[in-house]
Amino acid sequence: MTTTTMTAPIVTTRDALRAQVAGWKAAGARVGVVPTMGALHDGHLSLVRMAKSACDRVIVTIFVNPKQFNNPEDLEKYPRTERDDAAKLAPFGVDAIYVPTPDQIYPDGFATTVSVAGLDTMLCGAHRPGHFDGVATVVSKLFLQTGADQAFFGEKDYQQLQIVRRMAGDLDLPTQVIACPTVREASGLAMSSRNRRLSPGGAERAAMLYPVLRGMADALSQGAGFSGLVPQATEQLQAAGFDEIEYLELRAASGLAQMEHADRPARVFFAGWIEGVRLIDNVPAGPA
Ligand code: PAJ
Repeated sequence: MTTTTMTAPIVTTRDALRAQVAGWKAAGARVGVVPTMGALHDGHLSLVRMAKSACDRVIVTIFVNPKQFNNPEDLEKYPRTERDDAAKLAPFGVDAIYVPTPDQIYPDGFATTVSVAGLDTMLCGAHRPGHFDGVATVVSKLFLQTGADQAFFGEKDYQQLQIVRRMAGDLDLPTQVIACPTVREASGLAMSSRNRRLSPGGAERAAMLYPVLRGMADALSQGAGFSGLVPQATEQLQAAGFDEIEYLELRAASGLAQMEHADRPARVFFAGWIEGVRLIDNVPAGPA
């Protein structure tokens, strides 16, 4: 079924979407997709902007994917703001907003899991068992349902980006995965739908994360070893109010192997909790 709103057409079924896309492709259009879980902010919208500049037709998908939540309460609390999201997308002139009902993604009897071995056991994968299986499964379905030529993902979720890229390559999916830089608040805090759960003071203190990570990246580029930098960075982050640090690691930009010296392209990765909110971030280190 397809309904037209004041904004972009909202498509709710796989078959309606496929019919739409078939028409575009027959006319020779290059199709882009921006997969999201809604509650859109300027980080998401930067992906839409990139998709619009690279593709003739752009689909934004909004689906809060139950399979990637390990905590039912987290799933329940996830903001659902479809009307606001459609309004935010209006100025971009996207061609379709795909908001599938759950049965369109996981019909009765659905039994398949897409799992990207290795990349999913470290960093966030070590703390959120099953999360990346849920991501890889839904993203493979969204690629196949949209038939997109290109898909746009944020470097904010760098491990997710790597996993999706590996998955698309391994499965010979024809969708090219495009990386988009992290969008930050003026304070340096990476934009995230979770930021709205922070108090104003908490958001200000959480913004310390970026200069701390950047400081580590600068020291690494001057030849410092990573492990020697961790104690001071940990102290600074704890002083800012991060009362639990899940990980603070240097890993290869491609393949995510752990590193001590940034002698090839790398990223410094962080996850931690402040005011009961889990935040993640990462910055580049070493040669580009
Ligand atoms: P969601 O958290 O809604 O994010 C959708 C996309 O927006 C992801 O590619 C994410 O990396 C990107 N994004 C979020 N914040 C960003 C920022 N500050 N700067 C740049 N890009 C940013 O990630 C998911 O949804 C889901 O796991 C999904 C891929 C949709 C699968 O369900």
